Amino acid sequence: MTIEREEYTSPVSASLNKRVSIRHFTGEAIPDEMLRAILNSARRTSTSSNMQAYSLVVVRNPETKKQLAVLAGNQKHIETSAVFIAICADIHRLEIAADMHGKTIAKNLENFLVSSVDAALLGQSVLAVAESFGLGGVMIGGMRNHPKEAAELLGFPKGVYIVFGMSLGFPDEAKRSPQKPRLPEELIIHYEQYDTSDPTEKLRQHDAELAEHYRSQGRGLDDAAWTGVIANRFSTIRRPEMRSVLEELGFNFD
Ligand SMILES: Cc1cc2nc3c(=O)[nH]c(=O)nc-3n(C[C@H](O)[C@H](O)[C@H](O)COP(=O)(O)O)c2cc1C
Repeated sequence: MTIEREEYTSPVSASLNKRVSIRHFTGEAIPDEMLRAILNSARRTSTSSNMQAYSLVVVRNPETKKQLAVLAGNQKHIETSAVFIAICADIHRLEIAADMHGKTIAKNLENFLVSSVDAALLGQSVLAVAESFGLGGVMIGGMRNHPKEAAELLGFPKGVYIVFGMSLGFPDEAKRSPQKPRLPEELIIHYEQYDTSDPTEKLRQHDAELAEHYRSQGRGLDDAAWTGVIANRFSTIRRPEMRSVLEELGFNFD
């Protein structure tokens, strides 16, 4: 029996299939119990070696959100969201656990990666569950513009850094953007072996599709809407001080 592709839908896939990042909110508060339900579902996410090397800091205080918005490069949606959540990699708790047994955590690139991956997976679950409840939000990588200041503002102990933030709230539907086209499926999903054939033509087509999307939004990016942005943004080192700042915050990269 062949099953039609349309039959493969579930509440999770339906919610993901219609999602976009939300940067405009109604101003309505998120009920405490709804937020706790979201965060506790997200905490069921897989975690490397059951380490749970992450923490979430929920911020509702308008003054703190204002300061966080400035740290992230004046991202207004941090202020206007109902809640800001700092998604943090956290090896501080592991150090305490080790200390309880007279040991210290051997820190290197691996536990930096493990805690960052753990935190990212948790963060994606928070957003996915929030979206399934009809909330919207956007992740805020801009929080890594000033990781030390963010750590001070939110009172992190050593061994905690903010991987990204998240603004959550009820979406202002009048300002919901249409979905941004993704790269073609065949450039992302490979079967059995990586397909190394030249993607240039498909990237050009994607440039055109994305440029059309931006034009429909009144945003006049040039025709190289994806490749041009990647080339410009990532041809210089971004956040060159990141390694030394993270070392100050208690991580190690050996
Ligand atoms: C780790 C991460 C960091 C992000 N940081 C920001 C940010 O600082 N500001 C922002 O407006 N959007 C941010 N975004 C949202 C992306 O720009 C957005 O997901 C992407 O453009 C695709 O759009 P979509 O989510 O609407 O499909 C971030 C997304 C991720 C996954």
